[in-house]
Amino acid sequence: EKGGYDYFMLKEIAEQPKAVADTLLGRVDESGVLSLDEVRIEDTVLREATKVVIVACGTAFHAGMIAKYAIEHWTRIPCEVELASEFRYRDPILDPRTLVVAISQSGETMDTLMAVRHAREQGAKVLAVCNTNGSTIPRESDAVLYTHAGPEVAVASTKAFLTQLVACYLLALYLGQVRGTQWGDEIRAVVRELAAIGTQVDQVLGTMEPVRELARSLAGKNTVLFLGRHVGYPVALEGALKLKELAYMHAEGFAAGELKHGPIALIEEGVPVVVVVPSPRGRSVLHDKIVSNIQEIRARGALTIVVAEDGDETVVPYADHLVRIPRTPTLLQPMVSTVPLQVFACELATARGNEVDQPRNLAKSVTVE
Ligand code: F6R
Repeated sequence: EKGGYDYFMLKEIAEQPKAVADTLLGRVDESGVLSLDEVRIEDTVLREATKVVIVACGTAFHAGMIAKYAIEHWTRIPCEVELASEFRYRDPILDPRTLVVAISQSGETMDTLMAVRHAREQGAKVLAVCNTNGSTIPRESDAVLYTHAGPEVAVASTKAFLTQLVACYLLALYLGQVRGTQWGDEIRAVVRELAAIGTQVDQVLGTMEPVRELARSLAGKNTVLFLGRHVGYPVALEGALKLKELAYMHAEGFAAGELKHGPIALIEEGVPVVVVVPSPRGRSVLHDKIVSNIQEIRARGALTIVVAEDGDETVVPYADHLVRIPRTPTLLQPMVSTVPLQVFACELATARGNEVDQPRNLAKSVTVE
């Protein structure tokens, strides 16, 4: 049932191109028009929403952090993202024009479910982004947008994460479409680019041997740090979470701009630092700032592992290891940049002799608060 793979996690990483394609299927037509009919939420609710609040836990929370960039960019609706367990207990401000988006692979996560119940009690509309048909969270929500990742067996979430991004982007683009923002042309262009993401993920998967080799060489390290900016920041957090869960290593993700406000003190000789580099096009200011960060940490002895787009030559002199990803629009980059970090964590866990599919102390669905 592992389809020839040693672990479910490897199988599920490999299934990502299909999971992405399946999640897009039937929701966009050739001219870039979206239809989310099966979601059962009225367009008026989406048109009148004054705020979006995303709640989730763990990896799903990281998907939500990335979705915020897309939602605010394409819809100009203010969007907050909060850990479900924090949201529930701080008396958040909600009303019927708040659209709460609850992201959950299993649909059974108790922290997220409690946040959903609380939001509905306060009169907010709740839309679930979920991978499990008929599970509790979609049943208790006003609407559901299913991800079509197929069953995810490995405890560490991989393909569900990519499809959560796709679903959230569809929602962002759909919100833009029904509200008629100024981004019409851009939305249609992005829908076309989204359709190409599966192929790009496939491309990344075909070039992972050096990443695996690198991971094996780092099995004796104690700490790995991750840096990113803009949508690369949640990717850094996700890379670190995967490493904690699977390799049981100390791993932390930082917003690269925060480096100088503290974390740079952690840099010492030989510490591996994975840096997710933004596209050199579009947001070139951020790109240049990250290149300076890489220089700074390398000057202090860090072993730099640089994840950068094809054709980005500026990073080459500062990269001890270079991981190439295909060019994508800035907002779509997380769908390809996360993949090498998943492979990296999986291989490091294997090299350290850990049980990849069943990490210690963790369960696939967390049904207690
Ligand atoms: C990480 C992981 C967990 C889950 C989290 C939420 O690899 O698997 O962090 O993402 O427990 O689970 P769901 O999405 O089922 O609500």
